[in-house]
This record gives sequence, C-alpha cells and structure tokens, in this order.
Amino acid sequence: MSRQRLKIKVETQQSDQKARPIVIVGAGHMGSAFARGLAAAGLGNRLVLIDPALTPAAANAFRKMGALVAKNARAIDGTNPQALILAVKPQLMASIAPAYADAAQNALVISIAAGTTIQRLNHWLNTPAALVRSMPNLPASIGKGITAAFTPSTIKPAQKKLAEQLLKAVGDLIWLDDENQLNAVTAVSGSGPAYAFLLTESLAAAAQRMGLPPTVAQVLARKTIEGAAAMLSATKIEPASLRKSVTSPGGTTQAALNVLMSESLFERLIGDAIEAATLRATELARIE
Ligand SMILES: NC(=O)c1ccc[n+]([C@@H]2O[C@H](COP(=O)([O-])OP(=O)(O)OC[C@H]3O[C@@H](n4cnc5c(N)ncnc54)[C@H](OP(=O)(O)O)[C@@H]3O)[C@@H](O)[C@H]2O)c1
Repeated sequence: MSRQRLKIKVETQQSDQKARPIVIVGAGHMGSAFARGLAAAGLGNRLVLIDPALTPAAANAFRKMGALVAKNARAIDGTNPQALILAVKPQLMASIAPAYADAAQNALVISIAAGTTIQRLNHWLNTPAALVRSMPNLPASIGKGITAAFTPSTIKPAQKKLAEQLLKAVGDLIWLDDENQLNAVTAVSGSGPAYAFLLTESLAAAAQRMGLPPTVAQVLARKTIEGAAAMLSATKIEPASLRKSVTSPGGTTQAALNVLMSESLFERLIGDAIEAATLRATELARIE
C-alpha cells in the first residue's frame, strides 16, 4: 500500500478515538504471533505492521487480518498510535527504536526484546509515555505463550490495562516487580520451549535405541510430551503428584526415575542449564 493510502486509512480509523493504531515493529516469529493473536482478539483492523523485509505472501496474510503493512516508521507519521510493540532483534534495537521516539511520546510502548533494558529504551525513545519490558515465549505463536513483564510503577492504570490486553492476546501474563528478574525469566520460560523439545528428541532417540522403528519412536515421544503438557494444563494437581501417580513402587517408571533422580542428577542438570542461561541473559543485558 502506498504511504499516502496507508495514512488516509489510518486517519480515517482515527475518527473513532478508540481506533488509534496498534503498531508492531518487526513482523518475524514473535511480531507475527502478536499480529495473529491481536487479530483473533478483534483488533486486526487497528494493526500496522512495519517490517522492511516482508515477503508478498506474508504481507497478504497480514492484510487478510485487516492489518496495514509498511516498510518503515515514516508510514505512521502523524497517526498518533495507541501502542507500539517492538519486536525486532535486540542487537538492532539501538538503530531502529529512535525512529519511533515521536510516536512513543503519546503511546504505550511494549518491548519484547531480550536483554534490552528499560533504561536503554527510555534513552532511545526519548522517554515514552509508558514503557513495558516483556519476555514472551515461542508458544505465543499458537496463543499458548507465557509472558512475564515489568513496568515502572509510574505507569498509569489505563496504560497497564492496555498492556495486559495486548500481551494476553498471545497467552498468559505474569507481572514482575523487579526488572532484573527478566534474566531468569528469559532462561526459564523464554528459552524453555527448547528444553521441552530436547526432551522430546532425547525420548525418541532412546526409544530407537530400545529397538523401536524411527517413526514409532517419534510419534510416541511427541504424543507423550503433548499428553503430559495437556494434563498440566487440564488439572491444578502439582507436577510432583502427577509424577507419583504414574510411579508404582518397584515398577518401570520407578526404574527410570531411580536413574534420573539419583543424587538429584536431573534436577542438578536442569539447575545448571538454567543458571548458565540466566548468566548469559545478564551478560547480554550488559553489552547490548
Ligand atoms: N523467538 C522467540 O522465541 C522469542 C521469545 C521471546 C522474545 N523474543 C524477542 O522477540 C524479538 C523478535 O524475535 P523473533 O524471533 O521474532 O525475530 P525475527 O523472526 O528475526 O523477527 C524480527 C523481524 O524484524 C525485522 N526487521 C529488521 N529490521 C527492521 C526494521 N528496521 N524495522 C522493522 N522490522 C525490522 C526482521 O527482518 P529481517 O529478518 O530481514 O532482519 C524480522 O522480520 C527479539 O528481540 C527477541 O529477543 C523472541
């Protein structure tokens, strides 16, 4: 869409005060997830997606949701967005964010970039009206994400409510009271889906080692992790109780858990992994 047509459409929408644009900067994995979630929540015709490298197919998919698509920040000049969702890579944030400083003066700004601090965002955006730093995770792409977010206590209740509405479009939300906790969040839930995928891969590999054909091994591993995750979702029973309910004394599960839990082997391994990821997130937050 030409810049002029884009502006006309956005300005027309603004005749209704409730229809101020919601701008997503960066339409990659996470930006697209937010676009889909917000469109499903009925906000598709308020979305503007900005990404210089969108394929025609991706651009069309966003247009079908009712969204406008643009290549750079100039497209939203004078459109008074209600919210900006910054979904570009952390290492690009310093060069991209300043172009949105004007729009940010009267908008809620949500950053989902790992390791990018409120202090830096404030600097690049020349102190926006309201700023939320958040960490979603990949299941956001199917509306099953968990996002942890931090916002300075100065945020107005209406802006915080808007942030909740936007972030909950891709799953659940939990507020943090200390920005530094986002490093551990990144290690646990941000990176966490990778650990579940690794467990699935390892289970399939072990199944093959026990003589099962590859396809059978993969189906069994995938469906087992899927089923266990669905049980966690369907019940409030603690994971430890669920584990005990499949562990008969002296049985097969007990034999496996004796290996995994011997000297807290599995717990220590996961603990070390999360510690390494938290440390890395802390380092990245310092150097980005
Ligand atoms: N993926 C995850 O699981 C996850 C989880 C939590 C948080 N995050 C955070 O989410 C952010 C995005 O991650 P992602 O995985 O969605 O990355 P991604 O798929 O690479 O998406 C980023 C998009 O931004 C585009 N872009 C580059 N320059 C731009 C510009 N000037 N203006 C607008 N868009 C521009 C990129 O285009 P090009 O590809 O052409 O550069 C790409 O399409 C990151 O900050 C990351 O830390 C990701």
